[in-house]
Amino acid sequence: MPERTIVITGASDGIGAAAARSLHSLGNRVVVVGRSPEKTAAAARDLGGADYHLADFARLDDVRALAATLLERYPRIDVLANNAGGIMGRREETVDGHEKTLQVNHLAPFLLTNLLLERLTESRATVINTSSVANSIFARFDIGDLEARRRYSPNRAYGNAKLANILFTRELDARYGNSGISTAAFHPGGVATSFASESTSMMRLMYRTLLNRFLISPEQGAETLVWLATADPAKDWQTGKYYYKCKISPANKDAYDAALSSRLWEESARMVGLPNG
Ligand SMILES: NC(=O)c1ccc[n+]([C@@H]2O[C@H](COP(=O)([O-])OP(=O)(O)OC[C@H]3O[C@@H](n4cnc5c(N)ncnc54)[C@H](OP(=O)(O)O)[C@@H]3O)[C@@H](O)[C@H]2O)c1
Repeated sequence: MPERTIVITGASDGIGAAAARSLHSLGNRVVVVGRSPEKTAAAARDLGGADYHLADFARLDDVRALAATLLERYPRIDVLANNAGGIMGRREETVDGHEKTLQVNHLAPFLLTNLLLERLTESRATVINTSSVANSIFARFDIGDLEARRRYSPNRAYGNAKLANILFTRELDARYGNSGISTAAFHPGGVATSFASESTSMMRLMYRTLLNRFLISPEQGAETLVWLATADPAKDWQTGKYYYKCKISPANKDAYDAALSSRLWEESARMVGLPNG
């Protein structure tokens, strides 16, 4: 099989970095995207000097610049893994005026994917979205309050953003499945990473104390991502679905609402300034 180009965001640490190592060792060309210049350069060095690019997803201009660079540098993109994300602390707005959890976890990858769409369809690419079981546990989705102005807690905002990842996956399949795109969302498990380091949520306790002994390794957390990136979507997995441990998994009941996924696409397009709402 010819070398495939796999772009992974959030590849400077944790699950994304583990997936990058694994996919690189399988002979793929991995393109590392991170936020921290030092960590991202180090992750790329670990892959024998892979290409790397920087973008802070709390700045949509960074996402636009990243998309322009990727289009210029890579004539094919076989896999886009939208993996960057995390849980935040107090409610904060980005320079773009959006609630930060929603922007980093959903609006930024939504924008990146849309800006790359033509390249992704030409490449018959797979788009993988790292979601979380938080979509079932914490989400209380309110399409009229996406910015969480009325009700905010770190857990709720995170759960809503991770539900948005699944709604986006469904809608990407509905809109572009026939144009050659395959897509899936997945929950990696409870993984011992730098996750929750920016949060005031109680989840920080789980990840930043000895309790993290109960979590799985980043390599184990990356297994479903690696499988989705390497298996054949026409044969081995179904596009538009949400996975856990390489199997279709039940999600929040709102994840199955086709009118909601369509409305979220339109609202997200409006929020990031795309015309295709
Ligand atoms: N760990 C878990 O148990 C767990 C469970 C369910 C889902 N997840 C999801 O898995 C994904 C990866 O998380 P992880 O556990 O591997 O955590 P991690 O070790 O903290 O890695 C997070 C990655 O996302 C990047 N990132 C964070 N904020 C960003 C921003 N504003 N702009 C651009 N990149 C940003 C980080 O970049 P820098 O390091 O360069 O700053 C890093 O590469 C996330 O989407 C997370 O929500 C994790």
